[in-house]
Amino acid sequence: MQNIYSNIINFNSNNLQKIIRILKKGGIIGLPTETVYGLAGSAYSAKAINRIYKVKNRPNKNPLIIHYYNLKQAEKDVILNEKFYKIYNKLSPGPITYIVKKKIKTNICPKACSKLKTVGIRFPKNKIIRQILKTIKFPLAMPSANKSSSISSVSPIDVSEEFKNKVIVVNGGYSKIGIESTVINLVGKISILRPGKITPNQLEKILKHKINFAMSSKILRSPGLLKKHYSPNIPILLNQKKCPKKHAFITFGKKYPVTRNSFNLSRKSNLNEAAKNLYKFFRIIKNQKYKKIYISPIPNKGIGYAINDRIIRAAK
Ligand code: TXA
Ligand code: MG
Repeated sequence: MQNIYSNIINFNSNNLQKIIRILKKGGIIGLPTETVYGLAGSAYSAKAINRIYKVKNRPNKNPLIIHYYNLKQAEKDVILNEKFYKIYNKLSPGPITYIVKKKIKTNICPKACSKLKTVGIRFPKNKIIRQILKTIKFPLAMPSANKSSSISSVSPIDVSEEFKNKVIVVNGGYSKIGIESTVINLVGKISILRPGKITPNQLEKILKHKINFAMSSKILRSPGLLKKHYSPNIPILLNQKKCPKKHAFITFGKKYPVTRNSFNLSRKSNLNEAAKNLYKFFRIIKNQKYKKIYISPIPNKGIGYAINDRIIRAAK
């Protein structure tokens, strides 16, 4: 019998050559990052970009994040401002995506940015993706490695389950953070479009002014952000203190009893641990065919804000 996970490969020098061959030819591949797994293809290849949208079943109006090894690479494609450099110097490489102006003349495939004049750029920190970016010398468009509106992948097996044998996945173990990057808009009024591990507080300290969330803004700044997302497609009830035995109960903290249907994000009330477990638990619960998910309150501070953001969207 063929191993159902036979499309997962380890990261070694032989496979690095294979990965580079695939990417250079306009192929796509599942790769680890410190936030979640990405579905990567050359940002300069229309073939790769078309394939990413097709395999993910992603609406064309939802732009992709372009991932770079370093500033020198990025400066070829985008116009960067002083605020960008201030944040970049403190927080990149890392789990933050900057929305910046695209140069008029650039090699980025227009479809990757949904034909917008702006582009989301990120410098990931994970060692595997950095070594790949350093070797190929072109940027990678890389949305989260899941079917559109479904749960992001935090392990190579998740990616394999999402796309079956349509893509090869590089094994980088469990994602360290477990939740997608913070997205900050640096064009016009600065705002946070998607909360993540990097908090507004950290950004305010660097820029020395207040930064608001733009999520409730009437203008659809981040097309992927307002509708249902990150969802196991099971009804979710928020802020629950108890849960019937037949439903899945996602909890946080030590006061909740250990039962067969309970999934504790962090018994020691550690929000980083909770973020790392969230999508993992969503996927287990979905695979165990529970019909409803109850979720206990989760503190709305630090990365807890991003956890609550994803849970609310998943519940829509
Ligand atoms: O952590 C991450 O950011 C992961 C890893 C793989 O890097 N990637 C990721 O990509 O989450 P994706 O495609 O799942 O989410 C990208 C988000 C979408 O909500 C999209 O609408 C927004 O970034 N975005 C991209 N370009 C944009 C732009 N020019 N203006 C506004 N929002 C943009
Ligand atoms: Mg996504």
